[in-house]
Amino acid sequence: MVQEDYILEAEKLYVSYNEIDIVRNVNFRIRKGEFLGIVGESGSGKTTLLRALMMLKRKNNDIKGNVRFQGRELIGLDEESLRRLRGMEISMIPQNAVTAMDGTKTISSLFHETICMHRDGKIRRRDSDKLASQIMEKMRLEDTGRILKAYPFELSGGMCQRVMIAAAMINNPKLMLGDEPTSALDVTSQLQVIQELELLKSNYQVSMIMISHNLGVISRIADTIAIMYGGRFVEYGSHEDIIRHAVHPYTKALLAAVPDADGKISKGLPGLPPTFEKEMKGCPFASRCEYCIPRCRKELPEDVAISLTHRVQCFRTKELQDDIA
Ligand SMILES: Nc1ncnc2c1ncn2[C@@H]1O[C@H](COP(=O)(O)OP(=O)(O)O)[C@@H](O)[C@H]1O
Ligand SMILES: [Mg+2]
Repeated sequence: MVQEDYILEAEKLYVSYNEIDIVRNVNFRIRKGEFLGIVGESGSGKTTLLRALMMLKRKNNDIKGNVRFQGRELIGLDEESLRRLRGMEISMIPQNAVTAMDGTKTISSLFHETICMHRDGKIRRRDSDKLASQIMEKMRLEDTGRILKAYPFELSGGMCQRVMIAAAMINNPKLMLGDEPTSALDVTSQLQVIQELELLKSNYQVSMIMISHNLGVISRIADTIAIMYGGRFVEYGSHEDIIRHAVHPYTKALLAAVPDADGKISKGLPGLPPTFEKEMKGCPFASRCEYCIPRCRKELPEDVAISLTHRVQCFRTKELQDDIA
């Protein structure tokens, strides 16, 4: 068998705050150029997971299991090596570009700093401007001369987000991570950002992990989709598996729902996502699930592979599959 090269692999990943597990036994791996979308309501542990993949720790925050980047274990790696990886090979798109940018600096100076930070020795402003223009043009941003001279407040929110994505690509990273990169935008800007991410995928073969509470947005570009609930991947599969052959009742609820701007689902799904406790009994979704049977409240469903690409954590998988067939 040919050994596959994976950019990122997470195995039995647990992430806790104050000794309470938030991310619980997450397993996945992504290939070069693959786009993984992670979807779940707010409070499902998405941000906690994404930060852990970059080994960004807060106080009382513990990461256990394995996270391998290009075969190299990141858990336990020294901070200096991690910092280098984060700058050069793994890049992060902020949730809200306008607030993430330093408002006192022009876009030209933002690019200049980003480039200098990760290179030995300085680069002249003229040269960094040229690099910045090239990359922005590749992302189909128009009038790059004007953009470079502008301050963030002179650009729209959508434009700032697109500039930040271009800036995140400047060092040609292998992996790009985004925490709700379109959620703060209006529908038109959302679409432009998505088109920009599509261009990235086809032009650079960069692997991407984006999280969102909006399955509709993610499904426009993701190759693979993970549905997160109560810190677990309750369903995981190819775009087709999730969009056309969803099995888990939570995935079905997400497909049917339109989320509010704050990430809550008010229509189509009663109740609230679980609050995290040390010992959580049974399936995290049991209290909101119309298919719940007594066993669901007592035992935790294991990951079951129903095809080579599709995994589900639900005791009623068999009946729910027959339902579709
Ligand atoms: N800094 C923190 N300190 C303690 N607990 C946290 C912290 N951040 C997140 N949590 C816990 O993790 C849960 C999931 O949060 P988060 O990962 O931000 O979810 P999401 O991004 O899906 O909305 C929160 O409900 C909270 O219990
Ligand atoms: Mg979040």
